[in-house]
Amino acid sequence: MNILLIGSGGREHALALALVESPLAERLFVAPGNPGTAAIAENVGLDVSDHGAVAAFCRAQSIGLVVVGPEAPLVAGLADDLAAAGVPTFGPSKEAARLEGSKGYTKDLCAECGIPTAAYERFSQAAPAKAYVAARGAPIVVKADGLAAGKGVIVAMTVEEALDAIDMIFGGAFGSAGAEVVVEDFLEGEEASFFALCDGERALAFASAQDHKRVGEGDTGPNTGGMGAYSPAPVMTPEMVARTMREIIEPTVAGMKARGAPYRGVLFAGLMIGPDGPKLIEFNARFGDPETQVMLPRLDTDLAALLLACAQGALPAEPVRLKPQTALTVVYAAKGYPEAPERGTEIRGLEAAAAMPGVTITHAGTTAEGGRLLANGGRVLNVTAMGEDVAQAQARAYAALAAIDWPGGFYRRDIGWRALQK
Ligand code: AMP
Ligand code: GLY
Repeated sequence: MNILLIGSGGREHALALALVESPLAERLFVAPGNPGTAAIAENVGLDVSDHGAVAAFCRAQSIGLVVVGPEAPLVAGLADDLAAAGVPTFGPSKEAARLEGSKGYTKDLCAECGIPTAAYERFSQAAPAKAYVAARGAPIVVKADGLAAGKGVIVAMTVEEALDAIDMIFGGAFGSAGAEVVVEDFLEGEEASFFALCDGERALAFASAQDHKRVGEGDTGPNTGGMGAYSPAPVMTPEMVARTMREIIEPTVAGMKARGAPYRGVLFAGLMIGPDGPKLIEFNARFGDPETQVMLPRLDTDLAALLLACAQGALPAEPVRLKPQTALTVVYAAKGYPEAPERGTEIRGLEAAAAMPGVTITHAGTTAEGGRLLANGGRVLNVTAMGEDVAQAQARAYAALAAIDWPGGFYRRDIGWRALQK
């Protein structure tokens, strides 16, 4: 089977590494890919927003499976158009991707299906939202309804802050993503990311991870796409996984089917694990980045077969097999990230670092120019290591980072600290 993978980040390089290992895989194309995927697959310069062109490419190259990495093509309906063209596609329909695209949509589904989440209200005007905040008190959380590149959530410690956030969102800070606002209670506990594969009817637990969203050590400073992660998340014990499947994932799959929008793809649940169990913070309709870089090295089941089964509505009955080891990834970012990452600085020494025990390096924002590798983004490289435990995985990842010669980059030195404390 030939496979087309859509995307260009570290997540897609990790997906490509797992897909090429599949006995089902003949040729793997990546659109647009990056220098990392170019080394193991065929990068193609398709315009992914032109769904007709993607479908024509699939026909011409006899593509048996399309795997969509990022959310934007899903929200734009790429999976619908490919399915209509008869191409098996891993990733939800436009309607089902509303679980990521609209926080209000997801909160209403939770209310309908009894899924544990923070108490909330939806607003399309500032005055009633402010009155709700005043009545409810702080801490409280104010969210732009739509996709806001991870910046649309304000965790307000005071009523004042929450009122300002409402003005900011309705004032247009996030464009049309802020046409509606969700205000919800502040949840206490420990965050974890949990992933389940869904085929429209059923779901299979995939894996858990925890990421570090803040740019600075000790989880301080501005939010980023993620500065590092590890899998499994120690807080996701087998009991917690079973509860998450029963209380959150399975009711969502049933609810989406009842809404006429069966969910096929990976359901990424951002969870708060509190004293009374898991609560849903948000859903994403795709794999996480950098969570994928730590989950896939632990996978002991054929990834292409699993993703094809989701696309075809035929998930196997057997659980997904995972290696018991821990994987930990550190994001090597360009100086200036997240505000103004510096581009074009040269990176050396990757081969030696990648040859160290248990280490895999994925490209997230690089470009190859005249035999040199240059930084070309904010999050530039992911240095991932497997180990018998968090401490070993962490030591191996940092040893590999030390072997990379990139004066233009920086990384956090404390990835995994919470897991190590346990
Ligand atoms: P989101 O974009 O929805 O994942 O929110 C970004 C971050 O805001 C989450 O990872 C949490 O750290 C925090 N957050 C969101 N909602 C809540 C909540 N109800 N209570 C506490 N923290 C929250
Ligand atoms: N690392 C968080 C995300 O992929 O949304």
